[in-house]
Amino acid sequence: MDNILIIGCAGQIGSELTLELRKIYGDTHVIASDIRQADEEITAGGPFELVNVLEIEKIAAIVKKYGITQIYHLAAILSGNAEKNPLPSWDVNMKGLLDILEMMRELKVSQLFWPSSIAVFGPSTPQKNTPQQCIMDPNTVYGISKLAGERWLAYYKKRYGMDTRSVRYPGLISYKTEAGGGTTDYAVEIYYEAIKNKKYVCFLKEDTYLPMMFMPDAIKATIQLMQTDIDKLTCDDSYNVGGMSFCPDDVFRAIKKHIPDFTISYEPDFRQAIADSWPQSIEDCVSQKDWGLSYTYNLEKMTEIMLAEIRKKFNK
Ligand code: NAD
Ligand code: SER
Repeated sequence: MDNILIIGCAGQIGSELTLELRKIYGDTHVIASDIRQADEEITAGGPFELVNVLEIEKIAAIVKKYGITQIYHLAAILSGNAEKNPLPSWDVNMKGLLDILEMMRELKVSQLFWPSSIAVFGPSTPQKNTPQQCIMDPNTVYGISKLAGERWLAYYKKRYGMDTRSVRYPGLISYKTEAGGGTTDYAVEIYYEAIKNKKYVCFLKEDTYLPMMFMPDAIKATIQLMQTDIDKLTCDDSYNVGGMSFCPDDVFRAIKKHIPDFTISYEPDFRQAIADSWPQSIEDCVSQKDWGLSYTYNLEKMTEIMLAEIRKKFNK
């Protein structure tokens, strides 16, 4: 039986992935951890450990205590926040990953999931239908850490035979937990503001296309990749995952169908330059072929669910 450690369980992805993994593997087999307190649903539903990923001895002690066989390492500082504080963010994103890889090698924990991002691409990358392999010249501290991380995953796989797995998530949209300081966060905030105030000031320009994905599709993809027979996986660094592609004006129009008096204005900030350096859409045929990536949600379906769930949250 696998025992799983999740690092960064209180975040946008962790708060949903933890619950889904507990359904599959059993509550006591999924150990949640974060540097901050997680929601009660997570802390009451199974083991929870308060720990900083940079305190690797403490993480190693948790691994031994629970007989961990798989790690989902989600802790990171996202693109927008990382630009505000480059070197400390590099430490969390890069040193955090390297310490985990070394600790796993020493303690013989073989399987790791670590998410990469569309941020690995840069201004010289083809922006439309970005292929699995192409020029990658990220110019954000977050993107540089993700690209370096992908190469370290490939290194540990080749040199030490570790089973490291990764996807390049696009921007993720969800209603359960707030987004964690990224460039794609507008696509979460806009739904909250539509329900709470019927107006939104967007920090990206109206025609900024980015690849995006609804959280249930992201969780399904992550678990599907982790459960695929290793012999089928041809990609040694990180798999492209495309989802959908839309711009703020598209989301605005989709919401307006449900809330006719919703208004939007645009005040692009430093995140516009980050978004402009990223792909607009992603080609993910290698993921479809290797491990069966597929999607359920488009912008319209997602918008209906986002609005309904946020309404419930705020009793609106
Ligand atoms: P998030 O910011 O919502 O959550 C990250 C979690 O990590 C937080 O709960 C935070 O408290 C925790 N954390 C931060 N520093 C830590 C430390 N030193 N020790 C332990 N925990 C720490 O981020 P997320 O959106 O859930 O992203 C999870 C992973 O997925 C990250 O690696 C991120 O780069 C990647 N990713 C996310 C998206 C997205 O759109 N959400 C897209 C691409 C990639
Ligand atoms: N959603 C993430 C961010 O904007 C992409 O990795 O930082």
